[in-house]
Amino acid sequence: MRVLSGIQPTGRPHWGNFFGAIRQYIDLQEENDGFYFIADLHALTTIRNPDELRQNTLDAALDLLALGLDPAKATLFVQSDVPEVSELTWLLMTGAPMGLLERCHAYKEKKAKGIAADAGLFTYPVLMASDILAYDSEVVPVGEDQVQHIEVCRDLAGSFNHSFGDTFVMPKARTLDNGAKVPGTDGQKMSKSYDNTLPLFGEVKKIRKQIMRITTDSRPMEDAKEPDEDHLYQLFRLFAQPAQVEEMAAIYRRGGFGYGDVKKAVAEASETYFHDARNRREDLANNMDYVRETLRKGADRAREVAGGVLSRAQTACGLR
Ligand code: ADP
Ligand code: TRP
Repeated sequence: MRVLSGIQPTGRPHWGNFFGAIRQYIDLQEENDGFYFIADLHALTTIRNPDELRQNTLDAALDLLALGLDPAKATLFVQSDVPEVSELTWLLMTGAPMGLLERCHAYKEKKAKGIAADAGLFTYPVLMASDILAYDSEVVPVGEDQVQHIEVCRDLAGSFNHSFGDTFVMPKARTLDNGAKVPGTDGQKMSKSYDNTLPLFGEVKKIRKQIMRITTDSRPMEDAKEPDEDHLYQLFRLFAQPAQVEEMAAIYRRGGFGYGDVKKAVAEASETYFHDARNRREDLANNMDYVRETLRKGADRAREVAGGVLSRAQTACGLR
């Protein structure tokens, strides 16, 4: 099955991104024909610094490869390396109702806040639809916030197929298992917008300090606590082995423990968990030729597929 997803290179990935999204892309590469790309064209709607965008794009490739995305199993590429997608976007744009795009949340929210939006943000879902349709994608794993965009994609594909005959494969959203939201250092959902993230990579010492600053409640140490309600425990559970998790839950229920020890346990378990990926990332960073070559090969494969779909669509609507 063709599985496709895109990640915007807009900042350093955090624990929420990994457990909510990246880990699942990596699992899906085993049984499927995975296409994963770094959405630099989408990031251009927010990043206006060329060096930053270039650096972030390469960093995102390093992150994904270090975390286990295997170029022998999946196709990894950069969105803008496939110009066919931009060309297909225009074809979809001509049939995209204004009303449909006006209802899309990224644009709607900006407008509601009185922030001036540009055409890039307004037509963002059309580019995203093109990303999906260009590769005959069948399944698109995304977070809840992106489901609306997949609906737009299905609408655009449906109306193109209706006008010009069967051209596009109808994709389906697969909602990622991030229902159990990863909490941030303040206990709210971890998100870069809340400034409460713990990064996957970076200086271990610095991350440890951030972990030690995670907020906790002020109940007396001796009180018994319900583990599932505590964000520190929820974080520990992500990394630890089942036996360790059970042991920690028992400690919570018994009471008489200090949060400092739990924080130390979270730090240690997370360091062990990401140890190999961290080493792989360092090796990759010293071998940028390999990374660039991987992205080039990925783009070649992606262009081959997108070229076929684009010409199918061009013929269908009378451009050829
Ligand atoms: P942020 O909220 O930091 O801006 P993004 O919106 O860029 O993160 O997230 C990319 C994907 O990572 C989301 O679609 C979602 O699947 C996942 N994700 C982000 N934060 C969390 C979280 N706290 N818990 C679970 N999944 C998350
Ligand atoms: N808009 C998505 C996000 O912000 C990224 C993205 C771009 C994408 N094109 C896509 C995701 C196509 C899935 C399919 O997370």
